Amino acid sequence: MELAIILAAGEGTRMKSAKSKVLHQIAGRSLIAHVLHACEQINPKRSLVVIGAHASEVNEHLREVAPKSGTVLQRERNGTGHAVRMALDSDLAKSITTGDVIVLAGDTPLLTGETLARLSKHHRSNGASATVLTAQLFDPHGYGRIVRDSEGHLERIVEESDCTPTEREIDEINSGVYIFKVDRLRSALAKITSANAQNEEYLTDAIKVLRESGEKVSAFTVDDESEILGINDRSQLALCTALMRDRINDALMREGVSIVDPATTWIDLSVEIAPDVTILPGTSLFGSTIIETGAQIGPRTTVIDSEVGQNARVFESFVRGSVIGYNAQVGPYTFLREGSELATGVRVGAYVEVKNSSIGEGSKVPHLSYVGDATIGRESNIGAATVFVNYDGVKKHRSEVGDHVRIGSDTMLVAPVSIGDGAYTAAGSVITEDVPAGAMGVARSKQRNVLGWVMRRRATTSSAKAAKAAKAAKAAKAVKAEGVAKKTQARKPKAKKASSKKPVAKKPLAKKSVAKKSSRTKKKSVKVKQSKRKG
Ligand code: UD1
Ligand code: CA
Repeated sequence: MELAIILAAGEGTRMKSAKSKVLHQIAGRSLIAHVLHACEQINPKRSLVVIGAHASEVNEHLREVAPKSGTVLQRERNGTGHAVRMALDSDLAKSITTGDVIVLAGDTPLLTGETLARLSKHHRSNGASATVLTAQLFDPHGYGRIVRDSEGHLERIVEESDCTPTEREIDEINSGVYIFKVDRLRSALAKITSANAQNEEYLTDAIKVLRESGEKVSAFTVDDESEILGINDRSQLALCTALMRDRINDALMREGVSIVDPATTWIDLSVEIAPDVTILPGTSLFGSTIIETGAQIGPRTTVIDSEVGQNARVFESFVRGSVIGYNAQVGPYTFLREGSELATGVRVGAYVEVKNSSIGEGSKVPHLSYVGDATIGRESNIGAATVFVNYDGVKKHRSEVGDHVRIGSDTMLVAPVSIGDGAYTAAGSVITEDVPAGAMGVARSKQRNVLGWVMRRRATTSSAKAAKAAKAAKAAKAVKAEGVAKKTQARKPKAKKASSKKPVAKKPLAKKSVAKKSSRTKKKSVKVKQSKRKG
């Protein structure tokens, strides 16, 4: 294939969009990039995109996704024939005088390279000057119709607005994809006029012109008519997006990926997934994401530009620009932001946000924490509600946590700060100074109980009522216990001497005897209290 011409100068009015129609995306790729990608499979020596509306925006995008492609500016949209003529006359194509040229529209993202290859093969084996890709549609409305002669050979293409009532009944349509011998196309286009309902130069008229001058023209019908769907509005964009989703998911399942609910699983074409990965419902995998074998992702999880290691699990979470190691567990409700690196076996749990931080092998951040700009070593535990206070209002600062560290719940680690290997911090501490290895960092005020405060200052509240009741119950219990103790002493006066062998505290003994008379559970709770006191 000498040349590919992709037509993309149109306004795309029905999209009602501030951006060019061909820049809208499906499965992480712009419509125009889909077309260029399919084209690549038939190896055109040069690709030219005809641009017009939103020209600079489209041009910029093409530099990014298809730097080898050229662009031709069509200032006035005088029709598809005019657009192709502009491309052929441009500096980038005027030297091409022999070989084939394929013409496509920039808004048909479902077209496959395989279909283009078959079209090209058909064109060459028939020795045709022009071959049109056609489709049989249940509803041919809006398309140019394929008119065949009595022997079934392609005769011409008639646009809907120029159709007779009988021609309108034809259900074979022009997909807008053609291959021409480049020299024949040039001479055909020179003969085309704008004498039609739309006052445009129709590329489709080239077929009639070539046939009338004795050239062989041919039609090739596509197997799967969804391939030729063009996008003009948002509904068609959604339809093609869903069809592409199914295509991607089917291909992955054929490769050994388990997708529990393909209808709610959205995967970009750029994502790589190994066999024996399981994807649960409501999961989206976008960008340069890589998922290793045995991993389980979802339900309701989004992973963007990230790596998920072998056997890792990510559930009910949002992950962006991160690396999740072998056997690591993330979720539910975890937010991993850019630059998060979790080593082997790391666990990051519910309502935890991690940003620009690395967490070493086997370490855990199980609940309700923010880890920002930190390096955490191996086998460390970050208690619930810990915050790495990384922002002083102007700048971000980093913190370091060593190996086998235990950060107590609700610790504020005010960066920059460093916690040595094996160190602890006390729950509720605001740590502003480094904690050396093996030390316990305590940074909180001592507790003070203002006794009776509620009864005095909130006297009429339900709290005061509850407190009074608790006080009364405690007093009653003490009186009762005293009575029981007196009775016991009176009944067993010799017990005192016997007890001297076992130096057990008096009070617990008395309690124990009370417990004997009450339920088994009470007995248990007393025992627990005793052993705790001993420890
Ligand atoms: C065209 C075909 C029709 C076919 C249909 C398939 C013609 C005359 N008709 O109709 O037979 O069934 O495609 O979708 O070709 N474009 C330019 N410059 C222009 C005009 C159009 O670059 O001056 C581009 C558009 O951006 C678009 C493509 O060419 O990507 C097709 O143009 P459009 O106006 O959509 O053609 P249709 O009327 O749909
Ligand atoms: Ca048109």
